Amino acid sequence: MAFTYFFRDLHTINLIVKYLIPEIQGKRNIKLWDAGCAMGPEPFSLAICLSEEMGRFAFKNVHIDATDIDKSNLFADIIENGSYPYEQLQRIPKDIFDKYFERNGTPDHFVIDYNIRNRVRYTRHDLLTLKPVDTGYSLVMCKNVLLHFKPDERIQVIKMFHDTLLTGGLLAMEQTQSLPQEVIHLFDKIIDDGQIFRKK
Ligand SMILES: C[S@@+](CC[C@H](N)C(=O)[O-])C[C@H]1O[C@@H](n2cnc3c(N)ncnc32)[C@H](O)[C@@H]1O
Repeated sequence: MAFTYFFRDLHTINLIVKYLIPEIQGKRNIKLWDAGCAMGPEPFSLAICLSEEMGRFAFKNVHIDATDIDKSNLFADIIENGSYPYEQLQRIPKDIFDKYFERNGTPDHFVIDYNIRNRVRYTRHDLLTLKPVDTGYSLVMCKNVLLHFKPDERIQVIKMFHDTLLTGGLLAMEQTQSLPQEVIHLFDKIIDDGQIFRKK
């Protein structure tokens, strides 16, 4: 199983929310892409944090494409059901947990609020096809995935992300993943303490 957990790297998620909201405020049909989402904790954490900041009503305009190559073939069901064992939910702050999770009848499993689950759509997808699942994204988040690729693959995938983003859209990666020189001219780095870039 891929390594991931709820509210992983909350620092970066909070920065995404801070810089994304001014870009998307007042818009309808806002498209975000979490590429390499694993079993769902990352796109659901982003969705919860956005819903908290935007308010539930405005958040209804957000669609998150969550994609992964998923060699286990299990992620689609896990993400569609939005149900996780309690042991995987213990890092979530208690007030957020109480607000967004409820028992689903299975011992020790909790299901995510429908209004969050409903905004996240999973598609099985291999980034190395270099074909995006959609275009017109306000955000592409790709964390702890590119480090597994060869340098040239990394460059080609980042170029694909650039093509799928709206002008002004954000690309977010993990804190240790800087942009290769070959694609640096395509983006502005918007913060010093994270890897978040704006498409020029
Ligand atoms: C370490 S997990 C990262 C999960 C999440 N982004 C996070 O940071 O918590 C890496 C994920 O990348 C996915 N992955 C690896 N190669 C991929 C590819 N070519 N296309 C799409 N996803 C891929 C793996 O299946 C795995 O779920």
